[in-house]
Amino acid sequence: MYDLMKESIIDILFKNLGEFYSGKKIAEKLGISSVAVWKRVKNLIDEGYEIEAVRKLGYRLSDHPTRLWPSGYSIKKTKWLPNTVLFHKQVSSTMDTARSCYKNGSRVIALARKQTTGRGRHGNKWVSQIDSGIYMSVAVKPNLLLIKSLPLINIAACVAVHKLLKEKYKINTKIKWPNDIYYDDKKICGILIESETEGNSITYIAIGIGLDLKENENYASLSENGSYINPMELVGLLIDELDRQLNNITNNSNFLISYWKLHNNTIGRKVLINDFGTKISGYAKDIDEIGCLLVKDGDVEKKIVSGDIMFLEGVK
Ligand code: BTN
Repeated sequence: MYDLMKESIIDILFKNLGEFYSGKKIAEKLGISSVAVWKRVKNLIDEGYEIEAVRKLGYRLSDHPTRLWPSGYSIKKTKWLPNTVLFHKQVSSTMDTARSCYKNGSRVIALARKQTTGRGRHGNKWVSQIDSGIYMSVAVKPNLLLIKSLPLINIAACVAVHKLLKEKYKINTKIKWPNDIYYDDKKICGILIESETEGNSITYIAIGIGLDLKENENYASLSENGSYINPMELVGLLIDELDRQLNNITNNSNFLISYWKLHNNTIGRKVLINDFGTKISGYAKDIDEIGCLLVKDGDVEKKIVSGDIMFLEGVK
């Protein structure tokens, strides 16, 4: 349940991150008793906040936010995206949260420290160990798009991740069609789009992003090169960038396609595509104006809308 006092306490502690703040001062500020403050601090600790409580000194929130927290995100509500964050310590999949909230009438940004059944494209699972990455699903406003723009949503989402890593964190990655992000030849980010459609319209759409911050048995990690990433800050910046790139679907799709082409590692390579059991191999020649992969198999050119690809050899 939403508790304004609890939110106010965490706001005060965030503003004084890493420093002790007296419980008495918090109580005076909020017009409640010190006991009421302590009750809420205990609650916050149960929710996962690292708060130290020391007699005579007060409360201190850990000054090194190396993981996701329940609140304190700076996220604006935009044309495409909601700004309500729903945070889980642990959840089956943030895609489930996004969908069930939508069915109950609200669009949310679902975040989790851990997913027990994180999912990837084509029925793959997405390993989501605790505090090892960003596991986020965002319900996009569906009536802004037509079905034919679905592949472009993939492109917009991976352009957003790529651009943010490059410009804000100086991390240079490559995009593997359609929307995997590779760092030093290892996958560090996967994007999953789930949608429901009726006729020509999209009735529900959520973008799921899994970004590895710590290495695990399957994926590389962004922190490998020693750079420190504050996951909460990254979430706020990512939502901003995602909104900008989603806008480009209707305003400047040429930018999305040319950015994707400039930073991809797929075009020019021999690939094997697996689309739910149907296998196609050939040379990845280009992507078209909505992001479909054009593959040359002998004299025949095929247009691939979706699928998992494997590289069979290097650049032609
Ligand atoms: C892929 O590369 O196959 C897509 C992986 C998408 C993983 C993210 S993590 C957050 C969201 N919740 C999920 O269960 N999956 C997506």
